[in-house]
Amino acid sequence: MSKLVIISASVRDGRNSHRVALYFKSYLEENSLAESEILDLKSYNFPLFVERLKYQKEPLASVSAFAEKVRNADGVIIITPEYNGGYPASLKNVIDLLTDELYKKPVAICTVSDGNFGGTQVLTSLHFTLWKMKVWTVNAMFPVPRVAQSFDENGVAADKEASDKRAAVFVGELLWCIEAKSRMKN
Ligand SMILES: Cc1cc2nc3c(=O)[nH]c(=O)nc-3n(C[C@H](O)[C@H](O)[C@H](O)COP(=O)(O)O)c2cc1C
Repeated sequence: MSKLVIISASVRDGRNSHRVALYFKSYLEENSLAESEILDLKSYNFPLFVERLKYQKEPLASVSAFAEKVRNADGVIIITPEYNGGYPASLKNVIDLLTDELYKKPVAICTVSDGNFGGTQVLTSLHFTLWKMKVWTVNAMFPVPRVAQSFDENGVAADKEASDKRAAVFVGELLWCIEAKSRMKN
């Protein structure tokens, strides 16, 4: 079974996009699609970037552990809010730490907002950053509009059937990329 990490990017007090990270973890478990772990940037509470991890002389143990979890994952789901049309500083703060951990790694991006457009403006800037890093960004979207109405605090979807249907397509594309990559190694 594939191993995924779900990066929950919002560190905001009273954040709502974390609900979607909880939803995906449950969805993957319920459907026995993949093993997954949420890497919660609010819990990690990393300091501001000072240098790429591989060039740090005495990296924090928590930063190294985070990077190893990303390295060892077959694929990544990023749950990101949209802030002023882009992704949050908390996410850039960890992306810039990483180098080969993400190289050619299948990464699926889920965007979240409290408005009607599901945070999709994030896609242009985040895709570009990941493309620069030679990450394999998966060709699928999972925009979440009106997040507080769509998911409760435990990640339970208001319309589970519709959410699960969309998740099946989104996760399916990610797992396809993971399978394709594994065949390249054989
Ligand atoms: C600094 C800031 C900027 C925001 N900018 C946008 C925006 O450009 N578009 C949008 O739809 N929502 C915007 N929002 C609202 C977020 O979409 C909303 O907070 C949502 O719940 C996801 O972020 P969260 O996980 O931090 O709660 C913004 C929120 C903050 C805190």
